[in-house]
Amino acid sequence: MINAFGSKTGIEEAEAVKDCFERQWLGMGPKTRDFETRMAGRLGLPGFVMVNSGSNALHLAVKLLNLPPGSEVIVPSFTWISCAHAVVLNRCKVVFADVDLRTHNIGVETIEPCLTPNTRAIMVVHYAGKPVDMRRIVGLGYPIVEDAAHAVDSTLEGKHCGGIGDVGIYSFDAVKNLAVGEGGGLTARDPALIERARLARYCGIGKSGFEAATDKKTRWWEYNISDIDFKYLPSDVAAAMGLAQLEKLDAMQAYRRKLWDVYQKEWSSLSWMVQPVGPAAGEKHSYFTYCVRIVGPSRDRFARYLLDNGIYTTLRFHPLHMNPIYRSSAKLPVCEQLNEEALSIPLHPSLTEADVSKILETVHGFSKAI
Ligand SMILES: Cc1ncc(COP(=O)(O)O)c(C=O)c1O
Repeated sequence: MINAFGSKTGIEEAEAVKDCFERQWLGMGPKTRDFETRMAGRLGLPGFVMVNSGSNALHLAVKLLNLPPGSEVIVPSFTWISCAHAVVLNRCKVVFADVDLRTHNIGVETIEPCLTPNTRAIMVVHYAGKPVDMRRIVGLGYPIVEDAAHAVDSTLEGKHCGGIGDVGIYSFDAVKNLAVGEGGGLTARDPALIERARLARYCGIGKSGFEAATDKKTRWWEYNISDIDFKYLPSDVAAAMGLAQLEKLDAMQAYRRKLWDVYQKEWSSLSWMVQPVGPAAGEKHSYFTYCVRIVGPSRDRFARYLLDNGIYTTLRFHPLHMNPIYRSSAKLPVCEQLNEEALSIPLHPSLTEADVSKILETVHGFSKAI
């Protein structure tokens, strides 16, 4: 089966992890620090805090905004569930916003109808790595959590996505552009917030163990708990994989872009498929997923045809406001349309040429059959 998502790992990651075994150091340590320095440098960020998932990074990001309980946070409905969970778990209220049909991104047009006197923050998601039009959203004057889970290689007017809002997050889960199995990262424009995230990530303990022993002459095992927090700690095993993935990120991105361009060219004349929009001037895209809309024949029939031919596709995302746990009375017509028409076609660095040929042939086969 050809999968919709995937990563590309090999001997380089295995060697990097072997080094952790040889040092007998699996938990957070020198590899994590190295990965954080490299990420901050690559993305031009004031600091980077590695954590154990993008979902937990989102939780920490909302927490860092220190919003009063009951504050309303605007979140796109067409996103991953952790975006909404992060708000609710911080005792705030989610207000779901619609997205743009072309970009699948939240924008000022879809945010404005959601603004109320209780609005305290906005969460944006760079869907598939297509940068959100940040300038106008920043202009609204609310704190912004920027979900760059899909956008580790995306830039907008020269600035890296994730580093434009107040707090930004990344995901390095098993199928992300930079994949370590499970992992995430957090940054903020204010270095004080980055420092707070560092303190928070180990259950709210600041320095401990060896680190504390270098500062304290005695009783280094006693610690001051700065806040009541979950454990968001990454491991050096994940960070070692991250370092190896960083070395190949540019090549993996070039491959993603090549596939994207092939699909754009090959399917440009299909009247029943609306192709995703690529980067506009001043933008760099991360090509996390190739999400089309199927108009005319049923999207579900197309997905079934691909599956029957060994190609797994999926919908990223099932709109959150339609999910029973978040069911809201909001009418979000574009999200609801995407729920019926959108589909992610496989695009990732481990697709072989044969896989790509098969995908192209199968899509054309469907086109002839309808
Ligand atoms: C937009 C978005 N935000 C956050 C996350 C959460 O990342 P993680 O899987 O690392 O928890 C995901 C994961 O798919 C995502 O797609």
